[in-house]
Amino acid sequence: MTKTIDITLRVWRQNRPDVKGGFEIYHAANISTDMSFLEMIDVVNEQFTLDGKDPIAFDHDCREGICGMCGIVVNGRAHGAEKGTTLCQLHMRHFSNGDTIVVEPWRSRAFPIIKDLVVDRSALDTIIQAGGYISVNTGGAADANAIPIPEEIVEKAMDAAACIGCGACVAACPNASAMLFTAAKISQLALLPQGRPEAAERALGMVRKMEELYFGNCTNERECEAECPKEISIANIARLNREFIKAGLISTVM
Ligand code: SF4
Ligand code: FES
Repeated sequence: MTKTIDITLRVWRQNRPDVKGGFEIYHAANISTDMSFLEMIDVVNEQFTLDGKDPIAFDHDCREGICGMCGIVVNGRAHGAEKGTTLCQLHMRHFSNGDTIVVEPWRSRAFPIIKDLVVDRSALDTIIQAGGYISVNTGGAADANAIPIPEEIVEKAMDAAACIGCGACVAACPNASAMLFTAAKISQLALLPQGRPEAAERALGMVRKMEELYFGNCTNERECEAECPKEISIANIARLNREFIKAGLISTVM
């Protein structure tokens, strides 16, 4: 039998980027514990629509933990308290009848609030534009096995490539640093031979862009690693630092 719970939500409401926001309190009754957190907000919003009230704005797309669009701070934790879980995969069975749940947007100077729980995360795209790609010389399709790569390296590159760009690492970090995101994007390319030709340019470009965009510095708090829904390791930050130092040495010599 489906279990239902009654909850109270304290939700950040803010109409526009340039107006002051604040928490509002809503009661939601008969919430199925089989619902995801986003489905619970859908139910609340359906009632708001019927009542002629402004629905709560929030970001989402795939609802399968792969696109990186969802992201809300739930009870002070980015994507909620469940380890390795995106908000769209967080289920209401992790909450109890009578709970009060505090719901806020990502808080970072680099992610201005657009409305309610929706923030502008395009700063992460700007970091990617600064070097998170490889140049492809067109021609015949390359044989997938033409460049043998050791299994251990492939696994590390694939683990780094699991980053979905959600921004939870920035929201969780006391310095609002984007180091884990940038490190994942640099690592997924730097580890593979195809990423080596532009590795130095990439490391310098992406790190400089990250600094320009109001992200803070990494002080090894490890909150990013703890809150990342894809469990990206901070070993990638050490790799980013090595890549950045090597790139700086190359640019000094040349
Ligand atoms: S490193 Fe993790 S928390 Fe940060 S953007 Fe990527 S998936 Fe999200
Ligand atoms: S909606 Fe795509 S990861 Fe959550």
